[in-house]
This record gives sequence, structure tokens and C-alpha cells, in this order.
Amino acid sequence: MKTYLVTGGAGFIGSNFVHYVLSHHDDVKVVNVDSLTYAGNLENLAAVSEDERYVFVHADICDRSRMRSLVDEFDPDYVVNFAAESHVDRSIENPSVFADTNVLGTISLLDAVRDAWMGADGPGERKYLQVSTDEVYGTLSLDEPDTFFREDTPLSPHSPYSASKASADLFVQAYADTYGLPINITRCSNNYGPYQFPEKLIPLMIHNAQSHEALPVYGDGLNVRDWLYVEDHCKAIDLVLRKGRVGEVYNVGGHNERSNMYIVERIIAELAERLDDPAICTSLIRHVEDRKGHDRRYGIAPDKIKEELGWEPETAFEDGIARTISWYLDNQEWVEHVTSGTYQQYFEHMYGNRKVLS
Ligand code: NAD
Ligand code: DAU
Repeated sequence: MKTYLVTGGAGFIGSNFVHYVLSHHDDVKVVNVDSLTYAGNLENLAAVSEDERYVFVHADICDRSRMRSLVDEFDPDYVVNFAAESHVDRSIENPSVFADTNVLGTISLLDAVRDAWMGADGPGERKYLQVSTDEVYGTLSLDEPDTFFREDTPLSPHSPYSASKASADLFVQAYADTYGLPINITRCSNNYGPYQFPEKLIPLMIHNAQSHEALPVYGDGLNVRDWLYVEDHCKAIDLVLRKGRVGEVYNVGGHNERSNMYIVERIIAELAERLDDPAICTSLIRHVEDRKGHDRRYGIAPDKIKEELGWEPETAFEDGIARTISWYLDNQEWVEHVTSGTYQQYFEHMYGNRKVLS
């Protein structure tokens, strides 16, 4: 029996991870700690809300005493920190909330597990896993397509978001080096799939194209991202928790580099065909002012996780994007709710008069 304390489990990757763990292991308990920012949505977890192995706790990771008491109460084997402000464009508008959640929130969690685990009995098999990002490495050049981010690539973040994630990684490493805290860090490339908030490239383009709205492509649209289907990321995190060497960093990615223009044109073609709608076409594309400090290319070398843990992505991009488009077409109500704020009422409805968990 393993207990996972997952933070940020109501967000995109976190909710996929909760589903992954509950559907791949019988002997688990999953405690989901989430403050439900605009990006957190309990509708993502409606299918497991009655599962006895699942508990939701409404709390902010920056609340230090609450984090400590949750670690005492649930005594997790694994703490997996997904909770973050995750959108680069928002970090350019308002950097300080990124420092609060991504840096101070991480320190709050690290203190909670250090104080609970590093006493006379030691941590045993327990682990803290920081869900980080390839963006901490900075950018690669389009002119050197055979160069990739490796685990020993120096950290060189450019956006306030990636600076906050790199800073958190350094604290995680410092707690391992200073206090002997058993940790792993995973650094993954761009995820796509169900439950992604439609402020990110793929769901935004699906949403806008369907309603014949403009498709805003930053700059020349030739920036490259390394896209991974979210379930493959969840599998990698679970594998690192259970089998990864303590103290190690693992890069996660699928050698699936695509330009933003390729992604947008692929979505247009797929949607136009599925909906039999010729108005969904490339004339909807608008190149708009570039993102400030826009990283040109990300590309992950996932050799270490492949060699040590046997992890490889299982979902080809063509299948993954088709499944993702199907999910958004089949879940229009979800999109309406997250864009209208109805999910806040959903939270009140589900939890206002119901279980008080701690
Ligand atoms: P998301 O924005 O969809 O979800 C973030 C979740 O964290 C939300 O549920 C939100 O309510 C919660 N949260 C935010 N602040 C909180 C706080 N102070 N206390 C408790 N909960 C809080 O993010 P995502 O895209 O699912 O990313 C999850 C993690 O994975 C992040 O740490 C991100 O840096 C990392 N990551 C994301 C990607 C990607 O492509 N999306 C790739 C690599 C790594
Ligand atoms: O690489 C991992 C990172 O991927 C994660 O750490 C982040 O949390 C996640 O948000 C994502 O960051 P990106 O900035 O790469 O993702 P985003 O979807 O915002 O943008 C992808 C690319 O598309 C990027 O080059 C900017 C471009 N873009 C984005 C939007 C929202 C556009 O051209 N137009 C848009 O409207």
C-alpha cells in the first residue's frame, strides 16, 4: 500500500496523474492537495471523487503549518509537487505570484517533509518528487538540430516562469545535499492531452478554430517545442517515484519536435475534416507580436530515463493529437465551464456542505 500526496492534482497534468495512479495500482491512496486557482478544476476528477482511495484537500502549498499537518496526518510514501503557476505569458504579466507559489510553495513543502521525515528513524523508502520542466535549460538553436537538453545542461532560464521553476529545482537539490532529503526531479517537455486549460497553444487553437476565431501565432511561428502526450509523462513520473535512483534528475521527452505553425496547421486540417467545415482554414491564422524573451527551440534527450528505467513514450503524435481533438470535441461543456468560471460553482456544489477532510 502506497500513499501519494499529490499537489496541484486538480490541474492538467496533476489530474491526469491522479487518474493514472488510481487506474494502474489497486493498493494506493491518493491525497490531492490543491488551492484551486483558475487552473484547478475538480470536474477533472469527477470520475474518481467517490473512489475510497482518493481524498481531496483544499489547501495552498504556501500554507506552511497546513502542509506540515497534512504530511503528519496522511504520512505519504510519496510527495509529488505539481502545484505551480504554469503559464509563461501570465508570468510575463505578473512575475511575483510565480515566485510565491513556485519557489516559496516548494520550500514550504520541502520543510514539511524534511521535518516529518528526517528524524531519528529516517525517511525509509519515502520520496519527494519535484515536477519540473525543460524550460529551466533555456533555449536551443534551430541551426543545431542535433543538440538537446541533457540532465547536465546548465540551467539558463529566460522567463519569470522558468526562472521560478529553476529556482525551485535548486532548493530541492539543496535540501538533498544539506539534509539528505530523498528526492527526484523530473524535467519534461511540452505536454498535451485532456484537461489542459485553453490558454495553452493546443487547446487554445482547437477552441478558437471551432468557433472560427483568429488563431494567434506568436512571431514567425517557427519556434519549436518537443510535444509529449500527458499519459506518457504520468507514467514516467510514477516510474521515477518507484524505481528512480534517489537524488537523480530525469529528463522526460519523446523526440517529437514540431514548429508552432506545424501544430496549428495540423489542428486546422484535422478539425476541418472531422467537422466537415471549410471555414476552418489557414486564413484564420494571425501572426501576432512575439512573446517577450520567446525561447526558440526545446528538445529533450530522454536517454537516461530510457537506459535506467526503460521508459519510452508510447503515444505517437498523430494518435495523441487525434485523441486530444476528440476529447475536446466530446467535452465542450468542460471547455465552457473553465472559460466561464462555472467550475467555481461546481466546487461549492461538491464541497460547500459536504466532507470536511482535515
Ligand atoms: P496547471 O496550471 O494546469 O495546474 C496547476 C495546478 O496547481 C492547478 O490545479 C492549481 O489550482 C494548482 N495550484 C496553483 N497554485 C497552487 C498553490 N499555491 N497551492 C496549491 N495548489 C496550487 O499546470 P500543469 O500544466 O498541469 O503543470 C503541472 C506541473 O508540471 C507544473 O509544476 C509545471 O511547471 C510542470 N510542467 C508542465 C508542463 C506542461 O506542458 N504543461 C511540462 C513540464 C512540466
Ligand atoms: O516545455 C514545458 C513547458 O511547456 C511547461 O513548463 C509550461 O508549463 C507549459 O505552459 C509549456 O510552456 P510553453 O510556453 O512552451 O507553452 P505554450 O502552450 O504557452 O506555448 C507553446 C508555443 O506556442 C510557444 O512557442 C508559444 C506559442 N504560442 C502560444 C500561445 C498560447 C503561440 O504562438 N500563440 C499562443 O496563443
